[in-house]
Amino acid sequence: MSGRPDIERAVAVLRRGGLVAFPTETVYGLGADATDDDALARLYSVKRRPADHPVIVHLGRKADLEEWASAVPDAARRLAAALWPGPLTLVLPAAGTVSRVATGGLDTVGLRVPDHPLALELLDAFGGGIAAPSANRFGRVSPTSAHAVEQDLGPEVDLVLDGGTCAVGVESTIVAVTDTDVRVLRPGAVTVDTVAALTGHVPTTGGATPAPGTLPAHYAPAARVDVVSTTALRGHLTALGADSGVRVGLLGPASDLASVDAAVPVVTLAAVRDADEYARVLYSALREADALGVDVVVAVAPTDDGIGIAVADRLRRAAAGR
Ligand code: TXA
Ligand code: MG
Repeated sequence: MSGRPDIERAVAVLRRGGLVAFPTETVYGLGADATDDDALARLYSVKRRPADHPVIVHLGRKADLEEWASAVPDAARRLAAALWPGPLTLVLPAAGTVSRVATGGLDTVGLRVPDHPLALELLDAFGGGIAAPSANRFGRVSPTSAHAVEQDLGPEVDLVLDGGTCAVGVESTIVAVTDTDVRVLRPGAVTVDTVAALTGHVPTTGGATPAPGTLPAHYAPAARVDVVSTTALRGHLTALGADSGVRVGLLGPASDLASVDAAVPVVTLAAVRDADEYARVLYSALREADALGVDVVVAVAPTDDGIGIAVADRLRRAAAGR
């Protein structure tokens, strides 16, 4: 048992079927005891999440994998060994004992050991799996700070553990592994190239599995989001300026934004040095857009490699979200 009072309180909340929001390195999760179907039902209802959308079960140690998965293909074992704790979720055949409420009725389960000291302390003290989707309402922007969780979910969460701002900023890479197939269901900080190098399989991407993070419209602020290329930026701002009174927020690489003499008064939401910083500030910038009453967020897409692929993926879905 941990000596920290907030961790002890969080464990008590989970044991009585309550909901605890906690930080991970990717985004904040809204946690419930993964073996308590009543707690899971409340989790789905607070998120306003359809019951057929599975949640990720967070584990404290790599070895817990054997308890939650009925089979662990070699490729999955290699990924867990190399990348856990870290921003990787493995979708594997679920052990018979795993709640089908947590899996959204599927016979597979998403598992991940998060890389955040507070999350690991909580998991260690709780001593079981914690089911946790991102701690936002279904379809909206994921929270990367305790403050964002409180703003979104407020009193419906029993306890929010504050672990500061998330270091990665976009959700984990989801990889479904079978004996014959490695499939990347959602891009994240762990790249397809890394998965290929560690498993020796060339992963396929996408898939038919129900996954809210892979719906075309998700991660959406109230503002409209327009994703543009570097070269299209000026023209797009000029075109928007024709519509007088529109409030435009800008988001993108600093080098691209610096070259803009905006035809409309714009508010710079974030000017980033690289794709890592883009991922880290993406969701807080989208939230700020709404707080400022921005009508249109114009986002210059990052370069299409590394974590930039995950940022581009989230921007695309945010743009489809109205
Ligand atoms: O980084 C993250 O993954 C964060 C933190 C809190 O760990 N969690 C997160 O959870 O993003 P959520 O619920 O917002 O997204 C989980 C994704 C969904 O797209 C869900 O459909 C997919 O994981 N997923 C979970 N179990 C699955 C399964 N058995 N098969 C296919 N997809 C699954
Ligand atoms: Mg989510």
